[in-house]
This record gives sequence, structure tokens and C-alpha cells, in this order.
Amino acid sequence: MPIRKVGVLGCGLMGSGIAQVAAQSGHPTSVLEVSRSLVDVGLKRIDQFLAAGVTRGKVRPEDRDATLARITGTTDYAALADCDIVIEAVVENLAAKREAFQRLEAALKPEAILASNTSSLSITEMAVGTKRPHRFVGLHFFNPVPLMKLVEVTRTIQTEAGVEETVLGFAKGLGKVPIRAVDRTGFIVNRLLVPYILDAIRALEEGVGSITDIDQGMKLGCGYPMGPLTLLDLVGIDTTYYIAHIMFDEFRERRFAPPPLMKRMVLAGFHGRKSGKGFYDYASEPPKPNDFLTRG
Ligand code: CAA
Repeated sequence: MPIRKVGVLGCGLMGSGIAQVAAQSGHPTSVLEVSRSLVDVGLKRIDQFLAAGVTRGKVRPEDRDATLARITGTTDYAALADCDIVIEAVVENLAAKREAFQRLEAALKPEAILASNTSSLSITEMAVGTKRPHRFVGLHFFNPVPLMKLVEVTRTIQTEAGVEETVLGFAKGLGKVPIRAVDRTGFIVNRLLVPYILDAIRALEEGVGSITDIDQGMKLGCGYPMGPLTLLDLVGIDTTYYIAHIMFDEFRERRFAPPPLMKRMVLAGFHGRKSGKGFYDYASEPPKPNDFLTRG
């Protein structure tokens, strides 16, 4: 089945990135948010990313204009009725995702494929709440979506083989490199990444090293593009906290348990780059490490 029109549920960090790459690859794309103001914030993010691409000489001005023309922001599920695939990228919460799929399916054509960008929830648990579990997959993008090449394509024991193949082809058409995973919480990447970044917080809590030194250590000692605490700020401390909870719930292993500092940071609104502060303070450039552990 050819995939032409793409729908995206959620226009936050991930949803806006997914809508952008879909539109950049030539798909007419409708992206849905719960309010007009959130639609506007998401579309502005796309606009700014493309504008930065033009400034860097990575995006041609005419391609930016064509991409923006292919994207429609909406608050109405009916606008997604004729999509061939709809990718869900709402908050990492099963009830919220199920509700979004239910509302979507009331409008969506029956043969459309459903995909979730979840990084940790069970694909099966979401799929069985829909009318088309055999046409449901995981399609997990990485942050920042327009720059990261990888997509994890996750099948369940109910997914039709043809659907998995169609989605693998769709992901390649977006310029991504898809890898296959089965429906196990965290799939491949978060299974390995989450214990590592949580351990970085534990190392900080235990006073093994400062924020800067932990980040420099992994950047310069291991060749990672950014240190684990900078990465946490990029992905979102709150988002990673939810992911860790879900993974701990599934595997009951300490390595997935969110450390106490993380909980306090989430409660206090230290959500990372998007809230202006996390392990670093983003009020100035370059961002300064937060001294909340050493103060006083
Ligand atoms: N438009 C087009 N291209 C752009 C761009 C834009 N707006 N902004 C940057 N680029 C291009 C740059 O021109 C550059 O291209 P070249 O390599 O060809 O020169 C490239 O993107 C990198 O940009 P920068 O040089 O500005 O930045 P960088 O080298 O510091 O890389 C980064 C930035 C790609 C984010 C890099 O730091 C990185 O890979 N970090 C790790 C990110 C990561 O691990 N993400 C996964 C998080 S986990 C997740 O998402 C899943 C989950 O479930 C939690």
C-alpha cells in the first residue's frame, strides 16, 4: 500500500520533528494538537528549524517553502481522515495515547496504518485498544528528529508482515535508516541508553564527578557527540523519568529505576533545555552547569 498522506498526533518536540521530515520528503502532512496555541508553537518550531537549515546552507529556501506548504496544523481529528499512516507522538502515557487513537479512529479510514512513536510503552498494549491491531506498529524516532538517522520499527505478534514492510519502506523514504525490533519495552536503543544516562545521574548524586566532568568524560573519553547530562537536558528530564518508570515497571531491575535527584528535578520543573533549566541553565550561552548539588 503506497503511503502518501501522513498524519501526526502531537506537535511537541518529537511530533513537530516527525511532521517536518514527512513534509520534507514530499508527503502532505497534517499534524494535530489539542489547542490552537499548541499547534502554533509546534509549527513555529518547524519554521525555526528550517530557517536555521537555510542559514547553514543545509536547506534550500524553495525546499523550506515547499515543506511548510505541505504541513497543515489542526485541532480536528477529521482533518486526518484520509491519511495513509498516522504517527502518534503525544505524551508518554498509555491512557492519553489510547484516548487519542480512539478519537482518531472515529474519523480515520479503515485501511490506514497506525504507528506510535513511544519509546517505552508496550506497542501491543496500545494496539489492542484499537480496531486494527494487525495494522499497528511502533515507529520510534530520535531527538532531534530531522538530524538523527535512526528509526526503530517495532512489530507485535499481531502485526501483519506486509504492514511492517510498508513501514520500513516509508521510513527509508523519509531518509532514515530503520532497524527492526520486537515489542519489548525500550526496544533496542533505550534498553541500552536509559541505564547509561540514569547511571550518570547516580554518579553525580554520589559525588563521583561534577556535571561538566561527567559530560566531558563521556564526550572526550568515549567519543559520544554529547555527554549524558547534556543529552538528558535535550531529551527532557521529565520524559526520561516517565520512560525509566515504565522500564522499571516492566523489568524490575535497579538499572532502570529513576534516581531520587531525577524525581526532585521533575517536581521542581527542571525539565531540561525546553524549560530553560535542567542539569544546565540555558539563560545564557553557553549554558552554565547548575550548582544545585553543591550550593550551600
Ligand atoms: N537544519 C539542517 N541541518 C542542520 C540543522 C538544521 N536546522 N542544524 C544542524 N544541522 C546539521 C549541521 O549542519 C551539521 O551537519 P554536518 O554534520 O553535515 O556538518 C549537523 O546537523 C550537526 O549539527 P551541529 O554541528 O550544529 O551540531 P552537533 O555536531 O553538535 O550535533 C547533534 C548535534 C546531532 C544533536 C549531536 O550532538 C548528537 O548526535 N547528539 C546526540 C543526540 C542523541 O543521542 N539523540 C538521541 C536521544 S534518545 C531519543 O531521542 C530517544 C528516546 O526515546 C529517549
